[in-house]
Amino acid sequence: MIYRTFGKTNLKISQLGFGCMRLPLIDENDPTMINETEATNMLHYAIDSGVNYLDTAYNYHRQMSEHFVGKALKGGYRKKVYLATKMPVWLVKGKEDSQKYFDEQLKRLQTDTIDMYLLHSLGKNNWKTVQEYDILGFLDKTRASGQIRFVGFSFHDELSLFKEIVDAYPWALCLIHLNYVDDHYQAGVQGLEYAHKKGLAVVIMEPLRGGKLANNVPKKVLNVIKKSDCKQTPAEFALRWLYNRPEVSCVLSGMSSMNQVKENIKFASNDYVGTLSAQDLALYRKAKDFYLSKTRVNCTQCGYCMPCSQGIPISFILELFNDACMYNAVADSQWAYKIFIPPEHRADQCTACGECEEKCPQKIPIAECLREAHTLLSTKT
Ligand SMILES: NC(=O)c1ccc[n+]([C@@H]2O[C@H](COP(=O)([O-])OP(=O)(O)OC[C@H]3O[C@@H](n4cnc5c(N)ncnc54)[C@H](OP(=O)(O)O)[C@@H]3O)[C@@H](O)[C@H]2O)c1
Repeated sequence: MIYRTFGKTNLKISQLGFGCMRLPLIDENDPTMINETEATNMLHYAIDSGVNYLDTAYNYHRQMSEHFVGKALKGGYRKKVYLATKMPVWLVKGKEDSQKYFDEQLKRLQTDTIDMYLLHSLGKNNWKTVQEYDILGFLDKTRASGQIRFVGFSFHDELSLFKEIVDAYPWALCLIHLNYVDDHYQAGVQGLEYAHKKGLAVVIMEPLRGGKLANNVPKKVLNVIKKSDCKQTPAEFALRWLYNRPEVSCVLSGMSSMNQVKENIKFASNDYVGTLSAQDLALYRKAKDFYLSKTRVNCTQCGYCMPCSQGIPISFILELFNDACMYNAVADSQWAYKIFIPPEHRADQCTACGECEEKCPQKIPIAECLREAHTLLSTKT
């Protein structure tokens, strides 16, 4: 395992971190049903192989991720990792709530200290909440008490706000969405460079676009990957673009099987900083252009939008919509739409209540996309 400097701290963090948002499930339709035996084996294997950074959050797996992590880190594993979790800022409705959620998180995680405590999903609205309820004051106080070692934030909004937030507080770290397709999206590479210059550790989320850059990769992209010199899988191709950047402190992967854990750990045992040539980078741009030309909705299946009050499986429908366009496979998506989703839960049942749009980190106009998806997926071709 290669370790990297973590901003201005003296920590050495594994370049691969374990994201606990896409753990294996017993029931694929129920994110609370974590396959704890399998997930614990994966976590222990990762830690035993040198991964020392774990990322979870209050809301992952509909609030079950932290409970799971607390249990899985028993038996001496807690001491071997830096544990990161996040305050659900959008739930804070009063000054006392910061403490309330933090105490609950300590209990769930069965620990006295959070190594990295992040304000979750900062954007315009959540940043207002941070100021309104003096959440930064809470961070100061809790850091002074020793219950939080390092503070940070995760981010989903425009670059200008990202810079404002970086400059507003002595953060130790930030967590941004970055991969070779979304290099100029939200904070993007400019945000990465900015935060790094200011001394923050920069942790990466969605390195594989939630799996889209690794699974069912279109032929055109596979051909591009083949042209690169190295024999590598699509997942490795995508991770390498991030490991190439010296400003990246840690790449989180939300691994959902032991095979993925093993592949990603093996790949993280090499140092790739500065190894991509101009020719290599041109290949990444080619693959990116293809993806962007075919992506209808920038959904990464993170599931933040769920549950929907109408029982609409939002991210699944948006996936079918994207797949129809990406693979020129409208008939396949139409078939899946008809077979797997009963009429009462199809996209035309959306009431445009807006609840999911408020929660979506990618700011997707979900109601509008569901309307378009329904038109495409239910029209006879
Ligand atoms: N703070 C925030 O707002 C926020 C938002 C998003 C994520 N995060 C954090 O960042 C972490 C990483 O983001 P992410 O989970 O979206 O990461 P990601 O790496 O982009 O996506 C993870 C998915 O990629 C696929 N995958 C991983 N390794 C693979 C391999 N070797 N071969 C083939 N497929 C592979 C799996 O998909 P399949 O299961 O489909 O195979 C896995 O579920 C999260 O787990 C979470 O901890 C934070």
